Amino acid sequence: MSHHVADFDHWIRNDFIRLNAELEALYYAQPDRAEVEGVGGELKRELEQRGRGFSEALLAEGNTDEGFDAAFDLLGNVGLYLAACRRHGLSDPDRDRCSPQAEASALAMHIAASIGVVPRFATAHLCTHNRAIDGRYKSFTELPDELCFIDYNSKGILAFKRAAEALMKTQSLGISHPITADLLAAAEQALLEVQASNQELFQRLDPARFFYSVRPYYKPHHVGSQVYRGANAGDFAGINVIDMLLGLCQGNDPAYGRMLVEKFLYMMPDDQRILRDCMRRRSLMDDFLAARDQHRSSWYQTNLAAFLRLCDLHGAIAGQHHDQLVHQFIVRPSEQMADKHMEQLTASGPQLAHLLKALTDLRDRRSAAPREDILTRHREVALLRQLLGASA
Ligand code: HEM
Repeated sequence: MSHHVADFDHWIRNDFIRLNAELEALYYAQPDRAEVEGVGGELKRELEQRGRGFSEALLAEGNTDEGFDAAFDLLGNVGLYLAACRRHGLSDPDRDRCSPQAEASALAMHIAASIGVVPRFATAHLCTHNRAIDGRYKSFTELPDELCFIDYNSKGILAFKRAAEALMKTQSLGISHPITADLLAAAEQALLEVQASNQELFQRLDPARFFYSVRPYYKPHHVGSQVYRGANAGDFAGINVIDMLLGLCQGNDPAYGRMLVEKFLYMMPDDQRILRDCMRRRSLMDDFLAARDQHRSSWYQTNLAAFLRLCDLHGAIAGQHHDQLVHQFIVRPSEQMADKHMEQLTASGPQLAHLLKALTDLRDRRSAAPREDILTRHREVALLRQLLGASA
């Protein structure tokens, strides 16, 4: 690791966190906690200038070709810096035509283009690819609610990935294989863990702290002249692998396909490959439907029952995300926020109503809800349920 890279990493893990934390304390003490303008000018200047200094030195150093992991990690550090600048109003896509952090933007674009991801920090940088030193990993502030959010996002993502891996292995065995039952059970176990960890997050996280002091670091911002949406816990392939291998969502559904196209570069390259591979496979649901003349066989009954339990669980988790997490930590606190801050609210940029509609549609696809206006597998799941318990 070059000494510029090491110095920057040290700054991100220490003074950067301190500066953000001090600014958060100032914002949070105000009657309007969402206001950042005119607050903490000195701290903001220090944060911007130190980050600019590191970025200039690293940009001048050029690509030192230390492999993917080092490049991805450095991109994470530049990304955290750019996201913090956005959070403190040092950049604002509603105000600027391009990023005021020109050096950091150029550095982020150089690294990102060389490894095939977006030039901003992604969820993986904070969750699954965030090396701890002496028990502390990278974060913006060290506020207990930020660490809680990162920890439970990581737990959820890792458990979703375990479920996705089990489902991918069913592809080479087929729905009538006895070991497929084991794989479906492993996927079920993993999804139960997602559900349990989401429930704990729901109970532990403080809504106001999350809303005012954590979520703002996930806003869209400029890198160079382009605005990139914020990171979210869905930026990994596993969740969509589960959607598509179960058959609840389909890559050829235009709305769902559009969402996949949009998120590709927010994922790690390995995840991009997994998702591409999965998009050309047939779903378990279609396999069960195609083999329905064998529904009296004991393998069909056993594996169909396990499959339907998985579908129910996946739908329930989508409901939990939407009706508990999004409602409690975004919708409710936003109702108390001054109107002038509303446009700045979500990670993907669209105003809250649009975002909620997109998340409602996802929830309804995952729970195979009866909807006439979007594609869901309601009819197919109902048909499969009728075949249950009809063994010879
Ligand atoms: C996306 C909120 C925790 C999984 C989103 C989005 C929001 C949101 C608003 C849409 C992204 C955007 O703003 O553009 C929250 C809140 C959470 C939370 C408020 C807790 C405080 C989690 C956890 C997981 C998760 C723990 C589990 C891994 C996802 C997924 C997506 C997503 C998979 C992408 C859309 C989808 O495929 O469903 N989240 N989230 N979220 N979140 Fe969460």
